[in-house]
Amino acid sequence: MPGTSPHRVTRRGFLGSLGTLGVLGASAAVTTSCAQDAGGTQDAAASGAAGPSSVPFDGAHQAGVATAPQAHNTTVAFTLRDGADRTTVQRLLRIWTGDARRLCSGDPVLADLEPELASDPGNLTVTCGFGRGLYEAAGIADKAPSWLKPLPHFTGDALDDTWGGRDVVLQICGDDRTTVSHALRVLVRGGADHARPSWSQTGFLDIPVHDGDPGTPRNLFGFKDGTVNPRSDAEFDAQVWNDDGGTCMIVRRVAFDMPEWESVDRGTREVAMGRTIVEGAPLSGGGEFSDVDVNKLGHDGLPLIDTHSHVAMATSRNGDAERMLRRAYNYDLPVTAGPAGLQDAALIDLSDTGLIFTCFQCDPDTAFIPVQRRLADGDRLNEWITHVGSAVFHVPGGTTEDEYWGESLLG
Ligand code: HEM
Repeated sequence: MPGTSPHRVTRRGFLGSLGTLGVLGASAAVTTSCAQDAGGTQDAAASGAAGPSSVPFDGAHQAGVATAPQAHNTTVAFTLRDGADRTTVQRLLRIWTGDARRLCSGDPVLADLEPELASDPGNLTVTCGFGRGLYEAAGIADKAPSWLKPLPHFTGDALDDTWGGRDVVLQICGDDRTTVSHALRVLVRGGADHARPSWSQTGFLDIPVHDGDPGTPRNLFGFKDGTVNPRSDAEFDAQVWNDDGGTCMIVRRVAFDMPEWESVDRGTREVAMGRTIVEGAPLSGGGEFSDVDVNKLGHDGLPLIDTHSHVAMATSRNGDAERMLRRAYNYDLPVTAGPAGLQDAALIDLSDTGLIFTCFQCDPDTAFIPVQRRLADGDRLNEWITHVGSAVFHVPGGTTEDEYWGESLLG
């Protein structure tokens, strides 16, 4: 069940209706192919500042990765200003880390123009990722991970650089939309001398709660999304964290063709996904969290999970090396009226809807790339989806309370 992650915090806990929000569970043996000494994952002990609706900022890993998905996400990519060098990059990261640490703890930043908007962090997390441009500007390109480069072209890609790779990214997530917006404004303003925002992508999730435990949110195709994900410390160490406590973050913007999807019956949708809609169970049987058995045959001798279904194509062929944490958010932008207003059919025929597919993994060369290659070439979902944006970042490890993001790299 989803509540077993050590970082799982009940999303609505801060509303008071579900009682205390907690950081659940804790230890698991750490055996890892990818993070030998990264240590355990971020826990409440990492920072004394965590209140009832706050997620600890400091720890072995940055928050906002293993943290249970919050309701809102604004991810903003920045371009460093001309002439950026190591000193200006250090200055930027020092400002941002200090401001983000305060906001995530429910404290306004210095000279905050709207301090009232900072008082309840609503599980705010701010996660910072570096693009190759930051390493180059700071003169430390030799320290960049070898995988920090644009992803290869995949069949069907229709990428627009509007959503492409940039020098640095902030993923701002929280349960309160107002708090997320305030944090965004504060951070953009605070870094304005050194970096300007290039794109921002805003997404949302509705996380069902059963008996006080958060369930799996649904994407706008109607399926539960996020069932197969790492949950224990051991799984995070093997699939997500690297030796530096950091990880690789990929942001793909995936547009949905809603009118076409809406012309398809539920049976066809389930075959295309390889799971049931209501429960999210694999078509090979069992419940939502049962193992996906791609080899199980039905009475007719055919595989119960279609070999070209999304799940059959996405499931790992290479153990933990090919696994990742998916932390996707829905987007649904308004269809805007032209000079004559909206035509009758506009809201049905048009949509700007999809998924901000964000995933975290040790190494995209062994995880995202082989999986996406298979999906791009054979996934039945391709009939209704198009990848339109792609960016890769290195999320450096977590901080102690007087450190800034990436300090051990930048000195
Ligand atoms: C944007 C369109 C996509 C949609 C609508 C979508 C939706 C889903 C859904 C509903 C599931 C089943 C439930 C679950 O385990 O969460 C799933 C599983 C999965 N998806 Fe996607 N996904 C999309 C794109 C991607 C991409 C781009 C990748 C990675 C390259 C990916 C990788 C996976 C993986 C690894 C699983 C788990 C497979 C397993 O082991 O069972 N998905 N996805």
